[in-house]
Amino acid sequence: MKNSIETLQQEIETYVIENTDQLETFRLRFLVRKGSIAGLFDRMKDADPSERPLYGQLLNRLKKTAEQKYDAEKKKLEALSSPQKKKRIDLTLPGRKDHPGSEHPVQKVLGDMKQIFRAMGFSIATGPELEHDSYNFDMLNFPANHPARDMQDTFFITREEGQDDLLLRTHTSPVQIRVMLEEKPPIRVICPGKVYRNEAISARSYCVFHQLEGLYIDKHVSFADLKATIYSFAKQMFGSDVQLRFRPSFFPFTEPSAEVDVTCYLCGGKGCKVCKHSGWLEILGCGMVHPNVLRNCSIDPEEFSGFAFGMGVDRTALLRYKIDDIRLLFENDVRMLEQFSQ
Ligand code: PHE
Repeated sequence: MKNSIETLQQEIETYVIENTDQLETFRLRFLVRKGSIAGLFDRMKDADPSERPLYGQLLNRLKKTAEQKYDAEKKKLEALSSPQKKKRIDLTLPGRKDHPGSEHPVQKVLGDMKQIFRAMGFSIATGPELEHDSYNFDMLNFPANHPARDMQDTFFITREEGQDDLLLRTHTSPVQIRVMLEEKPPIRVICPGKVYRNEAISARSYCVFHQLEGLYIDKHVSFADLKATIYSFAKQMFGSDVQLRFRPSFFPFTEPSAEVDVTCYLCGGKGCKVCKHSGWLEILGCGMVHPNVLRNCSIDPEEFSGFAFGMGVDRTALLRYKIDDIRLLFENDVRMLEQFSQ
């Protein structure tokens, strides 16, 4: 009997109560009429009469310990959950700072470009970044062994003999094909988006960048229309006194083709580090849509003609915001991005 009392005494003293459920279990175990303490009181009648006073004393102490512990723990738990405690706010603490998002410099430039072309009547078309080889190359009149298809430039996803491979598009020109297969002329679209090239990564080039493609197909579209469109765009984008230079070039999907430079808008054409002292900055590639490309899309080159252009977006963003490393555009570092929040 004495042993049982001592064991229970110890159990009560070390019993852990951390929540109201545990408190209730404690009460049911020790304090109710059928609990362990009451059970020991019942056993008093079987004890030797000479020992009863001692057991009575010990049991009363045990009961008191349990009751006191119950009351104390109950108070503690009530204090913790009291609404006053919960709602207490420390008004002296500094407030939490808001972190409003900001438009990415590339999106700002892209936004300006889109707005200029939309005002000229171009609508926006998009296509997938994971593209078929046939749309990225074949239908754009790339010969089967053209070097641009090389593994060094293209990220191939699947590559099997005799299959239309999947790749990450290397330019936005496949969107031209998608639009021409779906729509009949007149077509006047711009296609903004990400493109991928397997290039050595440096401050000047990255494996992902943004292009904005343009396509205009109708009857009697001429190179003069292309020049006027690019000129109007460049004046709005880079300033009204900008000058253009068309240099003959080659793209499999345009003929004739040209690359276009604008007078360096950092030095005004005088020559600086950015334009490598030439006074000119290359902004885009363009040309008249090749008859083969029109034919591939079931558009009769005798009836329709058109022009296309493709420009890089990231470089304009770098120059406009004086950012000297293209990698900063893709790293999503908030310390860099939050500088563009106005
Ligand atoms: N797709 C070409 C490139 O990525 C650019 C271009 C587009 C050239 C349309 C001519 C016409 O370099």
